[in-house]
Amino acid sequence: MKPKLLIVDDDEEIRTQMKWALDRDYDVLLAEDRASALELFCEHWPPVVLLDLGLPPRPADPEEGFAALSEMLARNRLAKFIILSGQGEKSNALQAIGAGAYDFLAKPAEVGELKIILKRTFHVAGLEHDYRELQQHRGGECFEGMLGASPPMQGVFSAIRKVATTDAPVLILGESGTGKEMAAMAIHRRSARKDGPFVAINCSAIPETLLESELFGHEKGAFTGAHVQRHGRIEKANGGTLFLDEIGEMPLPLQVKLLRFLQEQRIERVGGRQEIAVDARVIAATNSDLKKGLHEARFREDLYYRLAVVVIQLPPLRERESDIRLLAQEFLRRCAAQAGKQALTFDQEAIKALGRHLWPGNVRELDNRVKRAVIMAEGHRLTALDLELAEPNSGTRATRLKQARQSVEHELIQDALRRHSWKIAPAAVELGISRPTLYELMDKLGIQRPEREPKSLEP
Ligand SMILES: Nc1ncnc2c1ncn2[C@@H]1O[C@H](COP(=O)(O)OP(=O)(O)OP(=O)(O)O)[C@@H](O)[C@H]1O
Ligand SMILES: [Mg+2]
Repeated sequence: MKPKLLIVDDDEEIRTQMKWALDRDYDVLLAEDRASALELFCEHWPPVVLLDLGLPPRPADPEEGFAALSEMLARNRLAKFIILSGQGEKSNALQAIGAGAYDFLAKPAEVGELKIILKRTFHVAGLEHDYRELQQHRGGECFEGMLGASPPMQGVFSAIRKVATTDAPVLILGESGTGKEMAAMAIHRRSARKDGPFVAINCSAIPETLLESELFGHEKGAFTGAHVQRHGRIEKANGGTLFLDEIGEMPLPLQVKLLRFLQEQRIERVGGRQEIAVDARVIAATNSDLKKGLHEARFREDLYYRLAVVVIQLPPLRERESDIRLLAQEFLRRCAAQAGKQALTFDQEAIKALGRHLWPGNVRELDNRVKRAVIMAEGHRLTALDLELAEPNSGTRATRLKQARQSVEHELIQDALRRHSWKIAPAAVELGISRPTLYELMDKLGIQRPEREPKSLEP
């Protein structure tokens, strides 16, 4: 079977000549305007398109050609476009390359030259296609939506596979933004409880006074305002998994109640006298130092050992070198598709900058930086500057100092916010900065308030 080639030109003579010259090697499709080009493109998915920019109704103007280019690219960003440009239209052709075209050729095209360029372009399109196929078959890089080819992440995936088959409590440790919640979900989805609910609660995002009834539920009239009986999150997780996020922030009195639940699989609602049996698997997570909490008597030792039957440690992103690029490419693919900028790719300096940065906010920071960069990027190259990772004076010492500073800033800000239940005003006062500055820093460092209602999956 011959490879498909779409030729878009409003000049009938040119179309006929080209078809005649290329018919032997290619399955040639012909279109004379934007609408018919798009129709043929979507019906036959040719990997290569020869595109004249001056199309009807205004053949003197390249706009129609540009529109055709972007419409077709949006449907298949792997297709390769060769722009046919008339004399004196080189700047338009270059602009088309900026918009994602692959190459250009001056009209009238010389047949020998045309054939060589087409051969090379089909070759590149074929290689890209094969590479994609190969990537899709290498399933090991993606586990329940988590990407990771690095040895430490492969270790995490294998630990998840093993614990998923049991009902043992799991403690997930890792810096902020390393994927603890994703790992908890992965355990749930791989377990026999996968058809039951996955109920998440963030212990640091709910004020202490509300946390007890949120977790354990309450009876009608248990306290002022308790007009109706309410089931807590633990009860809602019956038959499924309960994810206790930021467990290090749980107040001591509640730690006692939680321990009882873990020992007896029974709870009592606030203001209730009856014991209720609940069958829920518990996964806890924290980015704080629980061992330190034990020493300072902020965290009960007995509870720690109950929760930490299996510990999964998520490595910080800076320790998964080979994953940074993988994640960055995937985030770029997703954001660019959403923004209709499919042709965007990282330039060399951006890739170097991604590897140099220490990622205090880990995967979430990477995601945020790419999202912002996609909005900022002009043309089809995403630069270190777009990622806000450009180095003004790239001395290694200066870099290290800057990164160390960012890392400390990140920790202090996150700590202050958590202590003040993510209220900006008191946290800013404690840090000695204004509220707008705090917002700015949070944005720069990729610090996000945990969701008030963490994601829960009801069956
Ligand atoms: N391995 C991964 N592959 C793809 N996306 C990831 C991966 N790890 C994390 N993410 C993404 O990064 C973001 C942060 O992940 P998640 O919420 O699971 O982190 P966390 O450790 O729970 O963070 P925090 O401590 O701040 O609560 C999410 O948007 C998540 O989708
Ligand atoms: Mg989390």
